Amino acid sequence: MFNAQLNNKQISDKFIKNDSKMLNQVYGTDDLVPYWIADMEFPIAPVISNAMQNLVHRETYSYEFDSQTVFNSIASWSNQRHQLELNPEHFVQVPGVLSAIALLIREFSEMGDGVLIQTPVYHQFRRLIESAGRTVVNNPLKVENGRYELDLEGFENQLKQGKVKIVLLCNPHNPVGRVWSDKRHLLPSAALLRTVRATFTAYGSSLH
Ligand SMILES: Cc1ncc(COP(=O)(O)O)c(C=O)c1O
Repeated sequence: MFNAQLNNKQISDKFIKNDSKMLNQVYGTDDLVPYWIADMEFPIAPVISNAMQNLVHRETYSYEFDSQTVFNSIASWSNQRHQLELNPEHFVQVPGVLSAIALLIREFSEMGDGVLIQTPVYHQFRRLIESAGRTVVNNPLKVENGRYELDLEGFENQLKQGKVKIVLLCNPHNPVGRVWSDKRHLLPSAALLRTVRATFTAYGSSLH
């Protein structure tokens, strides 16, 4: 396990999330615990910081390209962790999660098709859908016992209307902090998608 305390105060003072001007601008106060931005709250794992230190010590920073090693690692992790077999030869490198989602929306739907999101959700999803000329279909999360939940009934109703071509599932869900579990959320959602023969599900998986 690694240390949950950041030990470099000088650096943490520079983080946007702690910036009192920014906090006052967004929330009207800086008297709060700043969990508002998609940042790590823990020091990174030693294996990652060691790899970064090796790069720094190398002292040259030319462009490099070694996707295959990364693809193999991702495939091997998915296999070990989720028993999911992925072929590294089928991977494609993209500049970021959002550009990947934008490409997938264009590839798997037509102009005007519905793309379902479950608000409150990462605000960029709406922008990506609208800038691709697709239509946002919203199935808001519901609150049960003080916790956000997927509204599976609303989800089914939206799918039955036949407009939804893509579902953007945010998991873990930014900003509500839920991790949707296989049995309670994902399998029922997938089963509903199958009943209406929706052609594609995109997992807008968060990185933090
Ligand atoms: C759900 C979600 N997707 C994508 C992103 C953006 O990730 P990146 O900047 O690495 O493309 C964020 C960033 O906060 C996010 O919350």
